[in-house]
Amino acid sequence: MSGWTGACDAGPSSPQGRAPWQEGVSHRALWFRRSPWAPIVKVMFAVYAARIDRDQPLSGLELGERPAPEARPGWSTVNVKAASLNHHDLWSLRGVGLPEDRLPMILGCDAAGVDEDGNEVVLHSVIGQSGHGVGPKEPRSILTERYQGTFAEQVAVPTWNVLPKPKELSFEEAACLPTAWLTAYRMLFTNAGVRPGDSVLVQGAGGGVATAAIVLGKAAGLRVFATSRDEAKRKRAVELGAVEAVESGARLPQRVDAVIETVGAATWSHSVKSLKPGGTLVISGATSGDRPSHAELTRIFFLELKIVGSTMGTKDELEDLLSFCAATGVRPVIDEVLPMDRAREGFERMESGEQFGKIVLTN
Ligand SMILES: NC(=O)c1ccc[n+]([C@@H]2O[C@H](COP(=O)([O-])OP(=O)(O)OC[C@H]3O[C@@H](n4cnc5c(N)ncnc54)[C@H](OP(=O)(O)O)[C@@H]3O)[C@@H](O)[C@H]2O)c1
Repeated sequence: MSGWTGACDAGPSSPQGRAPWQEGVSHRALWFRRSPWAPIVKVMFAVYAARIDRDQPLSGLELGERPAPEARPGWSTVNVKAASLNHHDLWSLRGVGLPEDRLPMILGCDAAGVDEDGNEVVLHSVIGQSGHGVGPKEPRSILTERYQGTFAEQVAVPTWNVLPKPKELSFEEAACLPTAWLTAYRMLFTNAGVRPGDSVLVQGAGGGVATAAIVLGKAAGLRVFATSRDEAKRKRAVELGAVEAVESGARLPQRVDAVIETVGAATWSHSVKSLKPGGTLVISGATSGDRPSHAELTRIFFLELKIVGSTMGTKDELEDLLSFCAATGVRPVIDEVLPMDRAREGFERMESGEQFGKIVLTN
């Protein structure tokens, strides 16, 4: 961490401004007393949602000190080395999946780091899928919806959610896998029903999920087509292994067996029209909105198309994805690596849609 900025509500605003009753320093987290008789509060640097703003999401983004995680039975604390941005973090700042009463909430759905025993680890960020650490009746959630996220020096998750990081992958690479890449893996290999030799269309080539789907699809022997609004991104999609990349909405040279859809309203009609009879449209996101002007209902039933919803993936699928990357040499497409205290730049880049691949924050 190269600097400390922004708000502070658990201690002094900077190490330089440390109060005389500061108790100690471990790793980078600091222990403070608000006064000589108050309980010790351990604080750490974090990037968090302080307010919800549907129209200007970045106005609610704060960088500063937040309480460090406290030990909890069945949970592990991980020192975060790298964490990656997902569009989900922008949705959180807009209040989608994150109600006001859960603020402030540290953002960041995925991370790689070092656990309490010094092991290099990756997090599975779906909490409560199996009841581990939370009890059987708690509904599934993704880090940052109910539990504090990974854009911090430390994060706590149920120990069940901690997986070994393959040595072949760097922390930055591993930190890209638990959300966007896992989602693409499940969309392609669990929900699209494709096999080597089949064809697939990936909408919005520059996105985190989309670049993952192009790379994973190519590595698995699929004929991958892609769309992007941007010519430079179309060129890069072909460099990643797409057979052809066309402008958003343009006709493909052939119909495809499956579509990987995360853009939503802007590309929905094109996705439906691009499928072969009996083909499968897998959707996991709607960045441009969830109300397409043309739903293409007639085409869906007449050609017996399948529409499949997909969200994140299981711990088993994440283990498979990690070993797929280790075995094949496939690596996440990283747009930019920034130190955690420059997180705002990464958010601005993602909000403007300029990125190609994943934006990674490091400690
Ligand atoms: N259900 C789940 O478990 C899950 C998991 C991960 C992500 N998601 C969702 O999937 C979506 C993508 O996530 P991400 O992290 O990959 O996002 P991202 O990295 O921000 O990528 C979004 C991409 O969508 C394309 N796009 C955006 N607006 C568009 C428009 N109006 N017309 C055409 N294309 C447009 C852009 O591609 P081009 O610039 O190349 O056109 C952009 O790069 C988000 O909505 C996210 O919430 C859901």
